[in-house]
Amino acid sequence: MPAELIDGRAIAKKVRAEVAERARKLVARGVRPGLAVVMVGDDPASAVYTTAKAKAAEEAGMYSLNVRLPADTSQADLLSRVDALNTDPKIHGILIQMPLPAQIDPDTVIRRINPAKDVDGFHPVNVGKMLIGERDGFISCTPAGIQVLLKESGVKTPGKNCVVIGRSNIVGKPMAALMMQNNENANCTVTVCHRHTADLKSHTRAADILIVAAGRARIVTADMVKPGAVVIDVGTNRVADARSKSGTKLVGDVDFESVREVASKITPVPGGVGPMTIAMLMSNTVRAAEMTLR
Ligand code: GUN
Repeated sequence: MPAELIDGRAIAKKVRAEVAERARKLVARGVRPGLAVVMVGDDPASAVYTTAKAKAAEEAGMYSLNVRLPADTSQADLLSRVDALNTDPKIHGILIQMPLPAQIDPDTVIRRINPAKDVDGFHPVNVGKMLIGERDGFISCTPAGIQVLLKESGVKTPGKNCVVIGRSNIVGKPMAALMMQNNENANCTVTVCHRHTADLKSHTRAADILIVAAGRARIVTADMVKPGAVVIDVGTNRVADARSKSGTKLVGDVDFESVREVASKITPVPGGVGPMTIAMLMSNTVRAAEMTLR
């Protein structure tokens, strides 16, 4: 029997409706949650993402500030923009879209954001809080969204073998840290695989929950998946497709058609993990605003 699809669009819609309700309550108390989305340069993919984030904020009843800076913006200029947003009372969340142009060091910029407004969860203070299981920080949106997908799909995680492919600071590392935490939505035995992993298949075949964030199209095939495993695909890769009008199509890091015959549950691409990332950004932003009232 083919795997059940984990519908990221439906779950994200539910999260966003909850966020909109929380935003309404805040507005009634005189606080409109505000999100600043900053993009430097004109990368088309980043433009699509930032527009979607700003639009989602507006739809949730938030104040949304979309800042577009030229590609030759200096690091000093961007840092002074961050400083201004850090002290702007209308802004509760700040997101600097990555990647940044070569003249700007992303780590320096991330460290400049006030951790209480770092709704991306990239600041070392928030990464550290997540690692030690402190709940008053912000968790990076994609791994946080995957945890919600698992919970909402009824996947019981305690005691399971969770294998993460990829060790980026944005997905792989925080994902592994989250799944090993001591709570009912985690408590997994976690393995992290990456490009130096010997015999990748021996690890993936042992996974009850396989989370793939490798950034390479369709590298996980059916023979690498344990029958009945839950498969989460973080990949978004554009590949040639003669049958589509544009000549390309979006595929994940998982070979969906073959793996869906083996897995028990699987996320599609698109419509799986992607919508959750924006929903969790909204959730983090409304929480940042709520925290100012405490
Ligand atoms: N670029 C790709 N994904 C992300 C993200 O989640 N946050 C930011 N700031 N930039 C990104």
